[in-house]
Amino acid sequence: MKRPALSSCLPSCLFFFALLVSFATAAENEQYKQVYIVYMGALPARVDYMPMSHHASILQDVTGESSIEDRLVRNYKRSFNGFAAWLTESEREILASMDEVVSVFPSKILKLQTTTSWNFMGLKEGKRTKRNNLVESDTIIGVIDSGIYPESDSFSGKGFGPPPKKWRGVCKGGRNFTCNNKLIGARYYTPKLEGFAESARDNMGHGSHTASTAAGNAVKHVSFYGLGNGTVRGGVPAARIAVYKVCDPGVNGCTTDGILAAFDDAIADKVDLITISIGGDNGSPFEADPIAIGAFHAMAKGILTINSAGNSGPQSSTVASIAPWIFTVAASNTNRAFVTKVVLGNGKTVVGRSVNSFELNGRKHPLVYGQSASSSCGDASARFCSPGCLDSKLVKGKIVLCDSPQNADVAQAMGAVASIAKSRNGDVASIFSFPVSVLSEDEYNTVLSYMNSTKNPKAAVLKSETIFNQKAPVVASYSSRGPNTIIPDILKPDITAPGSEILAAYSPDAPPSKSDTRRVKYSVDTGTSMSCPHVAGVAAYLKTFHPSWSPSMIQSAIMTTAWPMSASTSPFNEMAEFAYGAGHVDPIAAVHPGLVYEATKSDHIAFLCGLNYTGKNLRLISGDSSSCTKEQTKSLPRNLNYPSMTAQVSAAEPFKLTFHRTVTNVGMGNGTYKAKVVGSKLKVKVFPEVLFLKSLHMKKSFTVTVSGKGLEADQKFVSAHLIWSDGVHSVRSPIVVYATN
Ligand SMILES: *[C@@H]1O[C@H](CO)[C@@H](O)[C@H](O)[C@H]1NC(C)=O
Ligand SMILES: *[C@@H]1O[C@H](CO)[C@@H](O)[C@H](O)[C@H]1NC(C)=O
Ligand SMILES: *[C@@H]1O[C@H](CO)[C@@H](O)[C@H](O)[C@H]1NC(C)=O
Ligand SMILES: *[C@@H]1O[C@H](CO)[C@@H](O)[C@H](O)[C@H]1NC(C)=O
Ligand SMILES: *[C@@H]1O[C@H](CO)[C@@H](O)[C@H](O)[C@H]1NC(C)=O
Repeated sequence: MKRPALSSCLPSCLFFFALLVSFATAAENEQYKQVYIVYMGALPARVDYMPMSHHASILQDVTGESSIEDRLVRNYKRSFNGFAAWLTESEREILASMDEVVSVFPSKILKLQTTTSWNFMGLKEGKRTKRNNLVESDTIIGVIDSGIYPESDSFSGKGFGPPPKKWRGVCKGGRNFTCNNKLIGARYYTPKLEGFAESARDNMGHGSHTASTAAGNAVKHVSFYGLGNGTVRGGVPAARIAVYKVCDPGVNGCTTDGILAAFDDAIADKVDLITISIGGDNGSPFEADPIAIGAFHAMAKGILTINSAGNSGPQSSTVASIAPWIFTVAASNTNRAFVTKVVLGNGKTVVGRSVNSFELNGRKHPLVYGQSASSSCGDASARFCSPGCLDSKLVKGKIVLCDSPQNADVAQAMGAVASIAKSRNGDVASIFSFPVSVLSEDEYNTVLSYMNSTKNPKAAVLKSETIFNQKAPVVASYSSRGPNTIIPDILKPDITAPGSEILAAYSPDAPPSKSDTRRVKYSVDTGTSMSCPHVAGVAAYLKTFHPSWSPSMIQSAIMTTAWPMSASTSPFNEMAEFAYGAGHVDPIAAVHPGLVYEATKSDHIAFLCGLNYTGKNLRLISGDSSSCTKEQTKSLPRNLNYPSMTAQVSAAEPFKLTFHRTVTNVGMGNGTYKAKVVGSKLKVKVFPEVLFLKSLHMKKSFTVTVSGKGLEADQKFVSAHLIWSDGVHSVRSPIVVYATN
């Protein structure tokens, strides 16, 4: 069994990869059973169809057992069809060949991947931001995550009326869990095994953080021990929250069978959109990717799914959220940064990164390098302060230098009073359980050479301060990058939003950092997990102005109005659109996009036809008698009506390719839009170059032809932007062409 990951990269991420390996070895044994997801597509339209008895009879047939209680894990029966069950490899094979089954794939463990972030994006508090409060309070955000801390002020029901009439969900949060008119629903999907809490209560902190970022109430004077003091709030503070707990420390992540069940319920419960800061299932095709499956059925019902890109950057091809019916979010910084100064014995100060609320009384303490503080390890592991290496006699009462921030807790456990660590990327401030400052390589070397220069080196690690960071937004090093490994011609990620050092609600049932003994109601966290709910908040904000807009219209509006970003402003932006997609989310501009690129369910079916999904599987997924027309089978994935245009070409070969697109007028009654192409070494032709859109909702099609002499090896991708402008709106789409390796 493997599981999905929360996208805030806690050091524990490493642990469950070890877990995966042990499961894989056990799988060699024929009698070995594991949890498989049996995906059966859309629910049949027949009124007399009874999914649960159908699932039971399939299971009985395949296992030959009359009682399937021990086998069945869960049913998918409200929004789509299927079940999860303990199966052997040969049972899996039989099921996979059945007519009513689309795919059978193992349940895995995925990873979970502010006070100022909303101001930074331009969504200010008070009268200056136009809001439709009545509609906003009818908006329900479904949060698939690690649960929620229901007692948080961020989720208080004070001032809220009863839940929206459309709401079909329940409050099944387990023991000692009460919903209210803000937090209107709760369900949990933890494994039905001993040791797992039967509760939607957040025992990781992550779910409370993401929920409050998307839709938390405005709460004043919130800080992390005084740091970042201000008002925390979500993008749509008047909206309602429905929580689906799928992650738990017990599984060290989130089970995919639970995630699929959460989608099954959230869609039927009638949430307006789904935010899911979970990922890490890199490389699965759609029919074996639970988030892609769930989001497809959500899209078909008019519900947009917003998903984190992942925390596996800065390398290319690391983005794990790849379907075009998912809105995929990268993470960037904001103009607030936490810095932690280190004052050396010689009076020199170096500035590092961390969220350090501890005071060392300003007193200086002796410095020791991890490499010289070990009697049991070689230099190679001792300098990283690896577990088991530090000698407590040598570090007690001292500040220990470690070549990685990963083992700060080891130094603390051995009696150190603080730690100074080195980080290669160094663009993120994290919380530690004792005073830590993380330095860049250069500053770290400054400390090392100071240590060399004196007999009794000393230093003090100060409490963190916040600074104004002019170089924002910059994509974070950890944010996963494209290109898309499954559908090369769909650009991912789609957009970037604040994800670094976000202050939001937390759960006192979880430590704010590994081995931390403190318990807080608000904490600072970092990851694409944090940027995802920002975009969910923006999408919800947009929906309050345009309640009838489809998921693709909302996604398009947010993408085509994004703040342009530039590859040249930071090395972390180097991969340009593969790092930040269309750019940085701009909530205010997104309300009036002028034109949108719409893609309906049938456009997505045609897209699947082009990817060779035909016959039985296509019918099962679509839930109707769809079959691919000849034309659809030949339709190229890059011709899906997506707000970005991407194509993979062969290296060093001349190319000429065409994108077909259609825009819908959502601006004023009439408009004349002229095409402009900016920032390119590519030859781009748009036809026609002028679009007359005489009335609201009118559609016009055009083609974009891109040609070039062939991409050289050192210039693996080129990008440009198409901008449709009527003098008021700028409708901007990235065009990216890249070479295969
Ligand atoms: C219910 O949860 C709250 C908040 O965590 C806690 O303070 C209280 O003791 C719990 N009550 C019971 C009966 O477990
Ligand atoms: C936060 O700021 C408010 C108002 O400026 C102040 O009253 C409060 O004491 C501050 N809280 C902390 C923890 O610094
Ligand atoms: C400190 O001294 C050691 C041994 O003398 C040397 O190997 C190392 O390069 C020096 N480090 C710095 C940063 O000067
Ligand atoms: C679909 O199948 C055709 C014919 O087998 C093949 O040429 C084409 O490359 C396939 N397309 C994709 C996206 O796999
Ligand atoms: C658009 O509509 C306005 C008001 O109805 C009208 O004055 C204007 O001429 C129209 N523009 C075009 C290009 O049709």
